[in-house]
Amino acid sequence: MKRPLWIKHINQLATLKSSQLGPRTKASMSDLGIIKDGSIWIEDGLIQAVGTTDELKQLYRNNQHNVDIIDATDHLVTPGLVDPHTHVVYGGSREKEFELRLNGASYMDIMSAGGGIHATTKMTREATEEDLIEQTIKRLDSFLEHGVTTIEAKSGYGLNLETERKQLNVIKKLQQLHPIDLVPTFMGAHAVPAEYKGKEDHYANLLINEMLPIIENENLAEFIDVFCEKDVFTVEQSKNILEAGKRFNLIPKIHADEIVCLGGAELAAEVEAISAEHLLKTTEQGMKALAITGTIGCLLPATALYLREEAANGRKMIDEGVAVAISTDCNPGSSPTTSMPLVMNLACLTMKLTPAEALTAATYNAACAIKREHMVGSIEKGKQADIVLWNVKNYQELQYRFGVNHVKTVWKKGIKVVN
Ligand code: NIG
Ligand code: FE
Repeated sequence: MKRPLWIKHINQLATLKSSQLGPRTKASMSDLGIIKDGSIWIEDGLIQAVGTTDELKQLYRNNQHNVDIIDATDHLVTPGLVDPHTHVVYGGSREKEFELRLNGASYMDIMSAGGGIHATTKMTREATEEDLIEQTIKRLDSFLEHGVTTIEAKSGYGLNLETERKQLNVIKKLQQLHPIDLVPTFMGAHAVPAEYKGKEDHYANLLINEMLPIIENENLAEFIDVFCEKDVFTVEQSKNILEAGKRFNLIPKIHADEIVCLGGAELAAEVEAISAEHLLKTTEQGMKALAITGTIGCLLPATALYLREEAANGRKMIDEGVAVAISTDCNPGSSPTTSMPLVMNLACLTMKLTPAEALTAATYNAACAIKREHMVGSIEKGKQADIVLWNVKNYQELQYRFGVNHVKTVWKKGIKVVN
């Protein structure tokens, strides 16, 4: 059996433990459950005890010899970060589109001309499973190096049964190959594939009648997501697809109100989605609908920056009572980043979240958005020992010194994976 691990004398231990049950809203988003001179005792990959160093000294006074000790004086320790929205499995790259956009083309212009999601779909269809695994592992390594220990991963660059299945199988295999925990989402409704142009309803029917039964049968996904957007899927199509997903035991998520406000937030509330994503153009009424139904607002400030759009109004959403999570949206078009620390920083600078709210949004609330809050997202007895030791003294400094990777050490299930 592996020796226990004791991380002690932590200058600031942000446990994220709170008395509020479920996703955190309003003032509880600022409650980081901070312990000064904190300590964590880890055994068999799980957190056994959390408290002050004095408390744990007392608790384990009889077994302090056969233990690995980390002295975290002058350091901040947080839960492993959770990214609840990624498109991390894809083939190829689209750096040429970056230049096109800087020269004035819009994201949707590029997509309508066969680029964007369509370009990545072509490259993903052509890639073998092994290619996709190899390309994705590099991105997962980078996530880990930035303190991220759990991510959601969507399909959606196949847009036919064969390739959607290939992407979801890659996600399954990566579970065995990489320390990061991946949570799979079926997003066959990421775009209407070129071969169904003008026959959008046919594609929606194919998704519902042919893809969903197989996704369920082969146990390939837990969530279902739809790009509800002008010129992609209408509110009605999105609703039909998400309701069908529910019949196949998938939990809805929605890319909502990203470029044009179609009422995606209201649809998320109506279909009881676990989360609504993007929300750049959401109205006050949409925010209220999310707050009332407890639908998590998953905000993606790196995407807004990258598309040079005004960020979602995260401040107002929190003030209206929406539980906010944040994410990289890691994808090859609108946000090719794997840095959750950058996203936390942008949440402060562009959406007016406080540093404490940004940390809650990247840990506990993010875990709630993928139904993993019983395992990860906070440092509490019995949870997985997914822990980050940062080269800063407190959580404010983490957000304040931006554009720098402050990760010193990452443990995944008690095992050191970054040092
Ligand atoms: O969340 N909005 C749609 N999907 C992704 C972008 C995917 C891509 O451009 O490849 C997003 O921004
Ligand atoms: Fe996305």
